[in-house]
Amino acid sequence: METELIARYAVIGHPITHSRSPEIHAAFAVSTGRNIRYERIEGSLPGFEEEALRFFEEGGSGLNVTLPFKERALALTSRCTERALCAGAANTLGFGPEGIWADNTDGVGLVRDLVNNLGVELQGADVLILGAGGAARGVIQPLFEAGASALWVVNRTRARAERLVAELGVVCAAKSMQSVSWSDLSTLQGFNLILNATSSSVNGEWLGLPDNIFLKDSWAYDLGYGQSLTPFLQNAQQLGVTRLSDGLGMLVEQAAESFQAWHGVRPETRGVIGGLRSRITPPV
Ligand SMILES: NC(=O)c1ccc[n+]([C@@H]2O[C@H](COP(=O)([O-])OP(=O)(O)OC[C@H]3O[C@@H](n4cnc5c(N)ncnc54)[C@H](OP(=O)(O)O)[C@@H]3O)[C@@H](O)[C@H]2O)c1
Repeated sequence: METELIARYAVIGHPITHSRSPEIHAAFAVSTGRNIRYERIEGSLPGFEEEALRFFEEGGSGLNVTLPFKERALALTSRCTERALCAGAANTLGFGPEGIWADNTDGVGLVRDLVNNLGVELQGADVLILGAGGAARGVIQPLFEAGASALWVVNRTRARAERLVAELGVVCAAKSMQSVSWSDLSTLQGFNLILNATSSSVNGEWLGLPDNIFLKDSWAYDLGYGQSLTPFLQNAQQLGVTRLSDGLGMLVEQAAESFQAWHGVRPETRGVIGGLRSRITPPV
């Protein structure tokens, strides 16, 4: 009797127990008729490279990579997409005839959630990004490609924002981008879209934003998720902003992009976002 070989996928990170990727990919597999195994791997800080390579040596087909290994994931291979190169980080690894390849689907996941799910107009938009970590890096090129006209990056550690702007300006010729210091926020004009790409919401921290950065019809979008209204979104709401979203849709959309890269088929996402929201967001 022949036993069916089930393709193996996984997400690696540290810590990893909180990851929703297994249930998202399981839902995609059901809706597209794929038979896959998708597990969590608790990566070790000194041993990430060895563990990721072993996964593929043992026949693994695809690996999602999360904090704090995304930059190290990119360094595992010289075969990567332009968007991974621009981000300087990879969240998706796959195995093909020429070995391991790397991609970064965070930015396109954000753009799909903004444009397709929320109806945000990015064409000509002025965008303020709070934070200059891995997530901020990953979303900049896709935002420009989706039509954003200018982008400001503000970070608690100003030098990190300056470095990001300088590096992305060279690597992906990202134009119309500047860094500003946190103390300059009160001097800026309103933006069409304000993205919280800091980890402040995850840690329950209040950013204390000034009202001048918001316009009457601005969108406030938090890459964080998991609470009914994150501190950043509460802050924006208190300042009169009504267009608010957390990053749950981005989470599902970036997973769908990884799924498509591995399986060649795009899964439906709206039902998965709705199902996940009803399970992880406490009722208000
Ligand atoms: N929805 C999704 O699919 C998705 C995907 C990727 C990431 N994310 C979320 O995006 C967030 C950032 O991730 P990351 O990978 O960029 O993390 P990271 O590389 O560790 O960067 C963290 C950033 O947050 C800033 N920060 C932290 N606490 C702050 C505070 N109290 N006030 C102001 N700034 C603060 C840091 O500033 P300093 O440089 O000054 O330390 C840094 O810019 C996380 O919440 C993550 O869960 C969501």
